[in-house]
Amino acid sequence: MTSFTKLTEEQQPYIYINAVNKLNKINDNIYGGFTEHMGRCIYGGIYDPDSHLSDSHGFRTDVISALRELSVPVIRYPGGNFTATYHWQDGIGPRSSRPSRPSLAWAGYESNAFGTDEFMLWCEKVGAQPFLCLNFGTGTLDEALAWLEYCNSDQNTYYANLRRQNGREKPWGVKYWALGNEVWGPWQVEQMSKEAYATKAYQWAKALKLLDPSIELVLCGETGYSSWDVYVLKECVRWSLHDLGGSTTASLIAMHSIHIYTGSEEHFPNVTAPLSAERAIEMAAGFIDLARIENGVPHTIPRQTICFDEWNVWMPDRAPGEQGAEERYTLSDALAVGVWLNVLVRQSKYIGMATIAQNVNVIAPLLTTAEGLVKQTTWWPLCLFSRYMRGHLLAVNVRCPEYEGPTQPEWIRGTVATPFLDVSATINEDKIVSMVVVNIHDSRDFETPLEGVTAGDVQIYHVTGESPKVGNTQEKTEVKVDESRWDGKGPFIFRKHSIYMLRWQT
Ligand code: AHR
Repeated sequence: MTSFTKLTEEQQPYIYINAVNKLNKINDNIYGGFTEHMGRCIYGGIYDPDSHLSDSHGFRTDVISALRELSVPVIRYPGGNFTATYHWQDGIGPRSSRPSRPSLAWAGYESNAFGTDEFMLWCEKVGAQPFLCLNFGTGTLDEALAWLEYCNSDQNTYYANLRRQNGREKPWGVKYWALGNEVWGPWQVEQMSKEAYATKAYQWAKALKLLDPSIELVLCGETGYSSWDVYVLKECVRWSLHDLGGSTTASLIAMHSIHIYTGSEEHFPNVTAPLSAERAIEMAAGFIDLARIENGVPHTIPRQTICFDEWNVWMPDRAPGEQGAEERYTLSDALAVGVWLNVLVRQSKYIGMATIAQNVNVIAPLLTTAEGLVKQTTWWPLCLFSRYMRGHLLAVNVRCPEYEGPTQPEWIRGTVATPFLDVSATINEDKIVSMVVVNIHDSRDFETPLEGVTAGDVQIYHVTGESPKVGNTQEKTEVKVDESRWDGKGPFIFRKHSIYMLRWQT
């Protein structure tokens, strides 16, 4: 949690941090990823049997290494919008008998050369847990149950045996399952009303939990601040002894999914836009509590958390989905991703999982080329956060002036503060404090006394570039991280359009 005290332009900024002000534990799963059958994410991204950079399974080894560098804990699959017409049985067994199908979500076709067993194996190589999204469009409950049985059952049953026949004796053990994706969206095959969705989701949840009570189910929410969210939570976050087989400690729904993409061609609206997600999380958390209170859910049932399973900077006009959504990110976008990650850390007490959309090529921090990887500008904040911003959240007070111009969405103004210095801090098990300060200003440095930093040896990571407009290409790296040391004495100067991470031992 970061509190903010607004100063005038003339007053000197100040940051106060005290390592004893330890708050909630941050769930590692906030650094999750997402791979969809879309553009070059799967084919040409993580799977490319023709590439000299791929292993014997056809997996790009450079992509695996990069994701291991991030310690990505969990990865969502196979969509996204793709899910609404995906039949998982098309993607198992011998490749020669897998059917090609039209892909309705993103145009083109789906060869099904990469399917469930490939994804599971790939996750094992990355060191991430799989998170599967069920087809709420053209799919049936029978298919969903069959997929769960195929992945998780160790019984002598049809789909468990089919998995064995396909070469995998041990269950894949998929813990996280989503009850559809953006079912509310007009672009969705079988778009549903909130009433129809809530009825179906609850009944599917009951059947899925009967088959495997150990799984965690994710309800399909919208942005976190819509009437869809209020309604489906009220209908599905309830408690009935009958539905739960008499358990007073289990709930059908573990998490509530929300999605937000931000972006603007204007620098300040671009870097302040992720603050809309801060309010969205708070509101969705309030709606979860409202559902629990009104439905009399006992405290013995753990509070449902938010699964922010699509977030990022994405402007579909700039990088259309049907054309593969290959965003070319600028430094301004990297600062926005820094603010995004600060939001997720600050609000971590409500968040069970967050998965950036997406991992490779499609609105992604990594681009594959025939010869290797381009680390986009947004790679650097993601990498620093995923490596170091784990453990517990710390309370921080920031005093600085605020950006007061237009925002996108407009409602940010008057709802959420937009300080020039956007801050979050954590402390890990080794008592190392990590504090991220994003100076979103495009032309002003801030000299800032830091109270509570242990004088001595402070590790500094600094991400910046010549201007907010620069980006990285295969030929030129304009935005990267520079490392240095600071003795922790006197004010620290946060340079314009920069992300800083300061780390010190307490
Ligand atoms: O991540 C790209 C797309 O954005 C996903 O398929 C969909 O869920 C969202 O609209």
